[in-house]
Amino acid sequence: MADSATSNAAVAAPRATPRHVAIIMDGNGRWAKARHLPRAAGHRKGMEAVRAVVKAAGKAGVEYLTLFGFSSENWKRPEDEVKDLMGLLRLYLRKDAHDLHRQGVRLKVIGDRARLAPDIQEQLAEVEAMTAANAALTLVIAISYGGRDELVRAARALAREAAAGTLDPEAIDEAAVSARLFTDGIPDPDLLVRTSGEQRISNFLLWQSAYTEFVFVDTLWPDFDRDAFAAALDAFGRRERRYGAVV
Ligand code: IPE
Ligand code: IPE
Ligand code: MG
Repeated sequence: MADSATSNAAVAAPRATPRHVAIIMDGNGRWAKARHLPRAAGHRKGMEAVRAVVKAAGKAGVEYLTLFGFSSENWKRPEDEVKDLMGLLRLYLRKDAHDLHRQGVRLKVIGDRARLAPDIQEQLAEVEAMTAANAALTLVIAISYGGRDELVRAARALAREAAAGTLDPEAIDEAAVSARLFTDGIPDPDLLVRTSGEQRISNFLLWQSAYTEFVFVDTLWPDFDRDAFAAALDAFGRRERRYGAVV
């Protein structure tokens, strides 16, 4: 009796669900290499992990899920690999757009879109427009995204406005910088997960992750599933966030 009362209490205890989860999806190449497969096979399998995690995030009550799909530095990869990744993006947008819409997912893309092929830019705009009014989960995909590039653009925008006389330099505050980032209107991530054992930020959400909780897992991205996602949420639930204060 005492035992079941204890476990019921544990189940009923309120657990903090992160409002915004960001993920650096890493390890596709190593997953493929371990199977003597081409890197593209790892990326393809990684797309299945994306589907599973989007569903799991929605079910868990996460409001924003940001996935790092392609960094501004990933353009340095061999041409064939870049082509494969762009091909997968096209495929994902074509095959999954309606599923996402049905799930109530709103899609938003952050990054330097101008570097993407025109047909991809069009597809992205279409899916964003189609899903704009959805409210279950906002899926933010970072493509051709770099945190420093984002900050440079914000600095340029502020400088332009100051030079034009529409902005007083003394009035520039943190909110003014945030408002000029790709992520304007999106709350900062509460939890950032990186897979594949690497423990670095790789130019992702530099400004936005000032007080984010980091969870690093050894699992390679193609093996990351809803249980792995749930485990990361559990790890977050055990963290104590202080924001510089004494609590
Ligand atoms: C993540 O997997 C996918 C992208 C960066 C596009 P990687 O391709 O970086 O895989 P590893 O790190 O080489 O294993
Ligand atoms: C970061 O992974 C970018 C994405 C997951 C899209 P990388 O594999 O490119 O990062 P590094 O090179 O290991 O830092
Ligand atoms: Mg990698």
